[in-house]
Amino acid sequence: MPKQMKLGMFLRPAGHHLAAWRHSQSQADAGVNFRHFVDVARTAERGFFDMLFSADSATATSVFDERGLRRMAYVAWIEPFTLMAGLAAVTSHIGLVCTASTTYEEPFSLARRFASLDHISGGRAGWNLVTTGNHTAAYNFSRDSHPDKSDRYKRGREFADVVLGLWDSWDDDAFIRDRDSGIFFDPKKLHTLGHTGENFKVLGPLNVARSPQGRPVLVQAGASEQGKELAAETAEVVFAATPSIAEGRAFYTDVKGRMARFGRSPDDLKIMPGFFVTVGRTDREAREKREYLQSLIHPEVGLALLEQRTGLDLTGCDVDGPLPPINPNQAISSRASLLSDMARRENLTIRQLYTQIAGGRGHFDVCGSASTVADVMQNWFETGAADGFNIMPPVMPGGLDDFVDLVTPELQSRGLLRTQYEGATLRDRLGLRRPVSRYA
Ligand SMILES: Cc1cc2nc3c(=O)[nH]c(=O)nc-3n(C[C@H](O)[C@H](O)[C@H](O)COP(=O)(O)O)c2cc1C
Repeated sequence: MPKQMKLGMFLRPAGHHLAAWRHSQSQADAGVNFRHFVDVARTAERGFFDMLFSADSATATSVFDERGLRRMAYVAWIEPFTLMAGLAAVTSHIGLVCTASTTYEEPFSLARRFASLDHISGGRAGWNLVTTGNHTAAYNFSRDSHPDKSDRYKRGREFADVVLGLWDSWDDDAFIRDRDSGIFFDPKKLHTLGHTGENFKVLGPLNVARSPQGRPVLVQAGASEQGKELAAETAEVVFAATPSIAEGRAFYTDVKGRMARFGRSPDDLKIMPGFFVTVGRTDREAREKREYLQSLIHPEVGLALLEQRTGLDLTGCDVDGPLPPINPNQAISSRASLLSDMARRENLTIRQLYTQIAGGRGHFDVCGSASTVADVMQNWFETGAADGFNIMPPVMPGGLDDFVDLVTPELQSRGLLRTQYEGATLRDRLGLRRPVSRYA
């Protein structure tokens, strides 16, 4: 059978576009509407997606100020792990991957929750390990500051070790449940971790039996040196943000190239970049849909977004005028300087600049008919830039319906996507092996 691509459906309440909730094809109250998520999950199964994927943050406020923030839908919604547990009960095939932070959680409780989700869903759980980028999370967890990146990754590395150890607490056949003898489990098949390290002291064992997949699928999102090392050593899926195919290929080769050092084969890890996809029946229809969505971005949101990215104070600026210059020595990041250079080179107004960056949040942005979108996906897939994609519909449910009705059949007709679900677990679908316990 030819190799087929993997598909994640990146959940975001009303969709991924900044103005999604204002669009008539989105569900404006999606963030507190469980039925909406049930419909989305079932549509994704109809579209033969491998998994639902949820990001998460432990804070309501991004760095947007009040003007922009009061117009944003993503500030408050159902806690995604709880959501995944609910969705497990009303779906049958799709994987349930949720983000959780190694900086603001404890390994024992996280290991316990995700192993439980794996049981509840019959082997469809995955954990997206992040160290958390947003510093405001610190203030919700009794801290005065967010740890710096190197400390976060040190803790993250040890955190992953502890979680993986706890997931091996019980052998697959530990529970005999022999009513005649009255023996419930075989103590020889119980393993107490006894971890003591720099950040954690965890005795174990976990009070959840080894889960259907052996352990939940380990996903990682983090693109720095430390992030790529951690992924090469431990991750089974990487959620990447690569805004062009050249960057996609470079990231793919880089991360896969690191795996041999950890005794792993490149196939043990699937790289799935985010794809912000606007689909229409024709290229023109897709473009029109997108332009309409862009027109829904309120200037206050556009200005707040640009202030966040550039560090400039844009109070009182005319959105149809030019961006004020950034002093290169004071730029908050190299990306801020790049933005300002682009605006000047292309003679963009403030409005034109924020609409250009409002869509994919740094992910690859594609807009067109099913065959245009499938061409792009096929090219990434067949030329070493991706094993699959994390699809980000601009609005939900409308944009996901478009993808499933139009792009899914196109990919299937090219032999690039399954026509029925294979196997029983998320691992089976992703082509990942069931891990052997460290005690086997
Ligand atoms: C594609 C991608 C997705 C991410 N998703 C989340 C998320 O959902 N929640 C979160 O707290 N941090 C998220 N992060 C941030 C990471 O946790 C990480 O702390 C941050 O990116 C800095 O590390 P890095 O330089 O290795 O990327 C994400 C990062 C990337 C690159």
